[in-house]
Order: sequence, then structure tokens, then C-alpha cells
Amino acid sequence: MQNLITFNYTILRQKLVVFTGAGISAESGIPTFRDANGMWGKYDAMKLASVAGFEEDPQAVLDFYNARRKNLLEVEPNHAHRVLADLEKQYDVTIITQNVDNLHERAGSSKVLHLHGELSKVTSSRNRLDPNCIKDYPLDVPIRLGDKAADGSQLRPYIVWFGEYVDNMELAEHLVRQADIFVVVGTSLVVYPAARLVDYAHREIPKFLIDPKDLKGGLPAGFQHIKAKAVEGVDELVRRLEELEK
Ligand code: OAD
Repeated sequence: MQNLITFNYTILRQKLVVFTGAGISAESGIPTFRDANGMWGKYDAMKLASVAGFEEDPQAVLDFYNARRKNLLEVEPNHAHRVLADLEKQYDVTIITQNVDNLHERAGSSKVLHLHGELSKVTSSRNRLDPNCIKDYPLDVPIRLGDKAADGSQLRPYIVWFGEYVDNMELAEHLVRQADIFVVVGTSLVVYPAARLVDYAHREIPKFLIDPKDLKGGLPAGFQHIKAKAVEGVDELVRRLEELEK
């Protein structure tokens, strides 16, 4: 009987889908891409985050990602990551993230889908999506020129570079379509196809967007803007979710 009650409780929980971008990790000390002091203000994205850039100067690309991989060991999840993880007590939470850090997982979120890859993994530069070539790789071990993937090609970071196929997109779209509540945190919504996800949420469900700024493209239809940094905005989100329960 106890099992049955637990099972019913599980299936009755509302599906809360959260779509995150660089802004959620900003307070952990990982710079965003397009804010003042953002990554793509300092570095050339086409040189460091494209196949053409990797072919032209693989050492520069490896140096860039090795530094980001090492930095990940020095940062911690923040209050925003932790509150989203805590929401699993009440909701069936899925996180869809554009971030390549592992801060959602380290905060305790159990269902995290990465759209743009993961710094903690490596793959083949010839067969990026071959499951036999995708491996966990210690963050404190730099990827070097000459390191080989399982297919004998140069090892590369397991990151989706500009122009590359986002293989988890269909699953992400499916998850957003199923959402009972949809939350977007800390993304400029300018990188496609990921940004398209906001169009897949059902028209009638509650939708929240946490970002301290107005987005250049405007607030997507049907969203309530919680205009705050993620670390403060998540507390307001929890208050608004409690309102929905009343
Ligand atoms: P962006 O740098 O484009 O956008 C960051 C967003 O976070 C902006 O809307 C900021 O206003 C907001 N923001 C800044 N600080 C914040 C804070 N403390 N709390 C909440 N929000 C804050 O980053 P993304 O939209 O994530 O892709 O960028 C998308 C993709 O572009 C990345 O995944 C990356 C990049 O090129 C790849 O590398 C493939």
C-alpha cells in the first residue's frame, strides 16, 4: 500500500521544466558570453568555438577549454542551482541547460540535459557523437595535442561548437512540450536552435523568465519576467509557485 501511495504521488507531481543559460552560473564566478566582460567580448568565438577554428589553431582551442575545465574545479554551485535542485521535493523537475559546467548536477539536480555539451567530457574530433568516443575526462588533466580518442583521432572537448548539430534538441523540445510549468533563467535567447525552446511550451501553462535585464528580443509571449539575478530571482520564483498552489 505504501508503495502504491508513493507511486501515485510521483505521477501526480507537476512537470517543472527549467531552461538555463550562462546567467545562472554568473554568481558562481563563471562569466557569461554577451554581457559586459562576457567571454565573447574578450575572445573570438569563431576562432575558439568552431570546427574551422580548431582546424586552424587546435592548440589555442585546447588552451581555451583546458582553462575553462580547470576553472570548473574552483567554482561552486550557487543558491540558484540549489533552489532548483530543492524543487525536486515538490515537482518533477527537468533542467535543460545550455551551460557546459556541471553546477546543476553538483547542486543535486537529478535530471539535467545538456544542449551544448559538457566540459567534463571529451570526444573524437572525427566522430563527435559516437558514443564509443565520448568519455568522462578529469578536469585537472589538460587535453593535449596528440591525445587520441577511441577511433584514433585527436581528442577534443565534448562541446557543441558553432555550426554543429545540437543532438539533444529533439528531446529538449519534447520535454518542454510536456511541461506544466516552464522557467527560463539567465539566457539572452540569441543562440539557435536552443532559443527556440521557448516556443514549444504550451500556451496556457505558467511561464517565468528570470533575468536582471530586458532581453534584446523582448519578453517571449506569455512569460512573467522576474527581473533579478538568478540567486534572488529563484526565491521570488518559489513564492510565485506557492501562489499557484493556493
Ligand atoms: P549570454 O551571455 O548570451 O546571456 C546571458 C544572460 O544572462 C543575459 O540575458 C544576462 O542578462 C543574464 N544574466 C547575467 N547575469 C545574470 C545573473 N547573475 N543572473 C541571471 N541572469 C543573468 O549566455 P547564453 O544565453 O547562455 O554556446 O548563451 C548561449 C550560448 O552562447 C552558450 O551556451 C554558448 C554561447 O556561445 C556555446 O558555447 C555553444
